[in-house]
Amino acid sequence: MSKFIEIKPEEFNVSPFQLIGKDYMLITAEKDGKINTMTAGWGGLGVMWHKNVAYVVIRPQRYTKEFVNGSNTFSLTFFNGNSKKMLGYLGTTSGRDEDKIKKSNLTIIYDNGIPYFKEAVRAIFCKKLFAQDYKPESFIEEEIIDDCYPISDFHTLYIAEITKILIKE
Ligand SMILES: Cc1cc2nc3c(=O)[nH]c(=O)nc-3n(C[C@H](O)[C@H](O)[C@H](O)COP(=O)(O)O)c2cc1C
Repeated sequence: MSKFIEIKPEEFNVSPFQLIGKDYMLITAEKDGKINTMTAGWGGLGVMWHKNVAYVVIRPQRYTKEFVNGSNTFSLTFFNGNSKKMLGYLGTTSGRDEDKIKKSNLTIIYDNGIPYFKEAVRAIFCKKLFAQDYKPESFIEEEIIDDCYPISDFHTLYIAEITKILIKE
């Protein structure tokens, strides 16, 4: 299996629209020695407050939210094309009910204390900078509320500094 190498954010030349919106990613964090992960299809990469950042949104009922809230850091991992079934499973089952990581045959490894997965092809390491719950009164396009929040489970937005990017050679 090929090895991870570090690249600079400026060298990251894959479309985030494809990567996040079409191929999906895992958000993984550790709290009290336990790790949880979930599939995410919404989020982005950009620049904020003079820093390279990633942003993700997590609904209140996700078990992973407890882990992201309980840690200063988290990872985003991306997999190759034949991982859709695994990402579907990790995005429909809660870590409250099953040992999802074990069942997915994923191998946890660490970079600077941040858990990620050996089987990934890209990993972005993130340090939390900002968290804010989406509020219904903040929506200018109110249709989004009906469309995305019929049970009012508004996401929390996390903006995090990208501290490292690893890609497989
Ligand atoms: C393709 C896909 C994308 C998803 N994107 C998100 C997302 O961006 N934010 C979110 O809160 N949940 C998202 N989910 C749902 C969570 O992955 C799902 O509820 C998961 O089972 C939560 O697991 P947990 O309870 O172990 O955290 C997505 C699910 C799928 C299948």
